[in-house]
Amino acid sequence: MFSVDKIRDDFPILKRKVNGNPLVYFDNAATSQTPQVVIDAIVDYYTNYNANIHRGVHTLSQEATDKYEESRSIIQKHFNAKYAHEIIFTSGTTHGINLVASGFSALLKKGDELIISALEHHSNIVPWQMLCDKTGAILKVIPMDNDGSLRMDIYHELLNVKTKLVFCNHVSNALGTINDIQEIIHAAHKFGAYVLIDGAQASPHIKVDVQDIDVDFYVTSAHKMCGPTGVGMLYGKESLLKKLPPYQGGGEMIEMVTFEKTTYAGLPHKFEAGTPNICGGIVFGTAIDYLNEIGFEAIAKQETELLNYATDKLQEIEGLKIYGTAKKTAVISFNIENIHPYDMGVILDKLGIAVRTGHHCAQPIMDFYSIPGTVRASFAFYNTQQEIDQLVKAIHRAKAMLL
Ligand code: ALA
Repeated sequence: MFSVDKIRDDFPILKRKVNGNPLVYFDNAATSQTPQVVIDAIVDYYTNYNANIHRGVHTLSQEATDKYEESRSIIQKHFNAKYAHEIIFTSGTTHGINLVASGFSALLKKGDELIISALEHHSNIVPWQMLCDKTGAILKVIPMDNDGSLRMDIYHELLNVKTKLVFCNHVSNALGTINDIQEIIHAAHKFGAYVLIDGAQASPHIKVDVQDIDVDFYVTSAHKMCGPTGVGMLYGKESLLKKLPPYQGGGEMIEMVTFEKTTYAGLPHKFEAGTPNICGGIVFGTAIDYLNEIGFEAIAKQETELLNYATDKLQEIEGLKIYGTAKKTAVISFNIENIHPYDMGVILDKLGIAVRTGHHCAQPIMDFYSIPGTVRASFAFYNTQQEIDQLVKAIHRAKAMLL
């Protein structure tokens, strides 16, 4: 039985004060908070078995290697990948996207077409622009509608036999829009194009089955899923990961090295050069176990209630405009008439409330609405309606000070 009070006890940081006020943490889309079980797993690693992996015969190295590979299996099962070696540990979503973009530079030619969506984070725009610069491929964009949804009719018109890759986020970080990735994937496959889905904002809220949705690449970060920063995963279909050349050269990713020729290791090691974030990789699995213990249905129920409650309450505030009203996760991006989002963010912080302000690394979305940025409140399952009441009160106070 889900009890938000019990859940909140798992997160020590939620007990702290900020500027003399109880912390209200509404910046979960940037970084989720860390439960005690994950903090304990980090301490356990550094206290008991800190060592390099896949290299030593000694006990500590063996223990660390086993835990690291156990975590890969947890991630594999969670996302229902066919093989554990289809899960590549990365430093985060951005790393996963760059790894695939770099790999495709050898596989594209001038005139090939790539499609991205208007809702992308800069991390799912810039690597593909760099790839187009290198290869002469052409980047096309699925436009967005006023409600924050994608113009799927135009997506279907953009697809053609020259389309080689399609990139889209599962959930928009700036607006929370849940994109119809199933339709995006199916339609791209009809033209033989591969699809990479940026799952950074979806995986904390939605349990994804990569085989069921038949996606080619899916990337995410641990720090959105109650894990630490600096670690994430790239899922790729085995056949495609085999096709891509290594991203970085170094130790661990080789089979044999001579000065004349080097042969590469098999999957997943081909893409894991150098000493990785071992502790991060291990506790990524702990975080996923924690989320599954709560259950994604319970998480979705709590977050939907928070989203509906917050939407109703915020809409009552005079001059407040919400950006993005399509089907979405528990994210509310808003502005108050005649108040700069930054000023609102600073005052909310003074009152103990953490939100993100600015363009959210999604400048094209801000350009679409002709605004410099928004105030973004992003909720997690450990947030409460009382906290939303505090936000509403704080916005009224900020309005009184700024207008
Ligand atoms: N991409 C993260 C966000 O949306 C950092 O805040």
